[in-house]
Amino acid sequence: MTCARFMELALYDDETGYYMVDEVRAGREWVTAPTLSPIFGRVLARLVEPGLTGRQAPMLVEAGTGGGELVRDLAYGLHDEAPDVFGDLELVPVDRSPSARQRCRDTLEEAGIDLADVDLRDTLPERVEGVLVTNELLDALPTHVCQHTEQGLAEIHLEPGDPTLAPTLRGPSQEAIMELASRFQTQLEPGLRFEAPLAAYDWYREAASRLDEGLIVTVDYGARRRKLLEDHPKGTIHAYRQGQRVEEFWYDPGRMDLTYRVPFDEIARVGEEEGLQTLVYGSQGRVLTDLGIREMASEVGAGAPLAAKKLVDPDGAGGTFRVLVQGRGVDPDRLPLASR
Ligand SMILES: C[S@@+](CC[C@H](N)C(=O)[O-])C[C@H]1O[C@@H](n2cnc3c(N)ncnc32)[C@H](O)[C@@H]1O
Repeated sequence: MTCARFMELALYDDETGYYMVDEVRAGREWVTAPTLSPIFGRVLARLVEPGLTGRQAPMLVEAGTGGGELVRDLAYGLHDEAPDVFGDLELVPVDRSPSARQRCRDTLEEAGIDLADVDLRDTLPERVEGVLVTNELLDALPTHVCQHTEQGLAEIHLEPGDPTLAPTLRGPSQEAIMELASRFQTQLEPGLRFEAPLAAYDWYREAASRLDEGLIVTVDYGARRRKLLEDHPKGTIHAYRQGQRVEEFWYDPGRMDLTYRVPFDEIARVGEEEGLQTLVYGSQGRVLTDLGIREMASEVGAGAPLAAKKLVDPDGAGGTFRVLVQGRGVDPDRLPLASR
């Protein structure tokens, strides 16, 4: 099977998928920006606000919400800094995993948010007017993995259940993979591996087509394709098991988280093909700094300054995560960023 099929089963099989079965394990094993600290969502609220202001029925959709921490903290941030928007806001957390939806329900209930006002869903709403946010969703969608060989382009296939079996090379399973590689601006040396995240493109295209007016804010591991090929000639897909990085991502399906780095220029192109305007693209560190995370954190006190430092650290999350903002019908001058 292709790596994409393997990843689909390992992460999302109804009975054994990593994200589907065990909310305790899924919730405790990894730390993401929203689970690290509420300061992430509170400051990001400043970025989403222009996508919500002035709408009759503004929607704040968070896809791949996991435990719901980000949607909660965005709501808090809007409550404090944009009370007019908050008053009319509809919260729409989305996750395909039933255990994540249960955790999200618990998080929002604990925060005192009335669930009657929340549209918790397993798929995106038909139309979005407002803002659609994701944090670490695209890198969790199944990706194909390819290798350039002396004979041309090949795709890595796997035999699940046999941890000793090395991945095998076969011809690309889809025409779209050939098309993607033909657009790379880089000389492809034999042995070079890269991901072809067709599911992420499909997901983003669908999301963009459902956005009537507003913003899509995407936060994830990644970089431009050229940089990924230069910095990661062996590809970027890997696994995490109990917080430890594992290169043999095919080992122990269902017990490990799987991830790869998102080629952001290709995601941006998909959005532009759907008529969206690219408004912001930058490192998480730069964007959060421009939004004023340090100042906000020192006002909040407690653990916030330390969390803010981690989130902007150029040698850590601040450098490896990127933020892409695309919009339809939103004046770019309304975005509160010093640099774009
Ligand atoms: C890495 S977790 C990130 C959770 C959360 N956003 C955070 O940053 O803590 C990815 C989440 O996306 C969900 N997911 C994966 N594919 C999805 C899809 N097509 N639609 C909605 N949620 C999805 C998974 O179930 C999982 O909860």
